[in-house]
Amino acid sequence: MKLRLLPILLATALSATACESLATQSAKTASTAPAAASTNPADLNDLEIAHVAYTADNIDIEYAKIALRKTSSPEVRAFAETMVRDHEMVNELALGLLKKLDAQPQDNFLSQKLTADAAGISAKLESLNGSEFDMYYASNELGYHKAVNNLVETAFIPNIENAEMKELFKAGLEIFKAHEVHAEMMVKQLGG
Ligand SMILES: [Fe+2]
Repeated sequence: MKLRLLPILLATALSATACESLATQSAKTASTAPAAASTNPADLNDLEIAHVAYTADNIDIEYAKIALRKTSSPEVRAFAETMVRDHEMVNELALGLLKKLDAQPQDNFLSQKLTADAAGISAKLESLNGSEFDMYYASNELGYHKAVNNLVETAFIPNIENAEMKELFKAGLEIFKAHEVHAEMMVKQLGG
């Protein structure tokens, strides 16, 4: 099964030796920061991208924990357990890389927007029960993975400068694309 290979893939990505120090990049960015902040995801630097990814991972874990508390559907439960396991694993790898590079993720407009949107969705999830809850959770997971995967593939991976971080994101995208396929199946099984 493809997912079994992922820890190996990720470990390989993290063992790559060629890397530019993210701390150096951060200092560089700070000294040349434009006066007006861009709101284009493609303009984010590596440390901002790392912050967005960490935020997006935590949001999916938060939704999954709500699902594990509320659902009685085995399909939804299995999906939510997978989300907690995989997103926690990717977050640990990302934090390990940042520590190794002596760098801190940087908060930014996109992390703030994701967090604000997630507050509304979590409230909606808390307000629903039974099959309505399951369908809303499943549909939101499908849309969320589609949106985040598109962002990672088109705006982040082409622009990440650090070689190790780029490999980590490529490996992460494979996991999250598998989640998207799984979410699609879950929606169908729930009758959506
Ligand atoms: Fe996921």
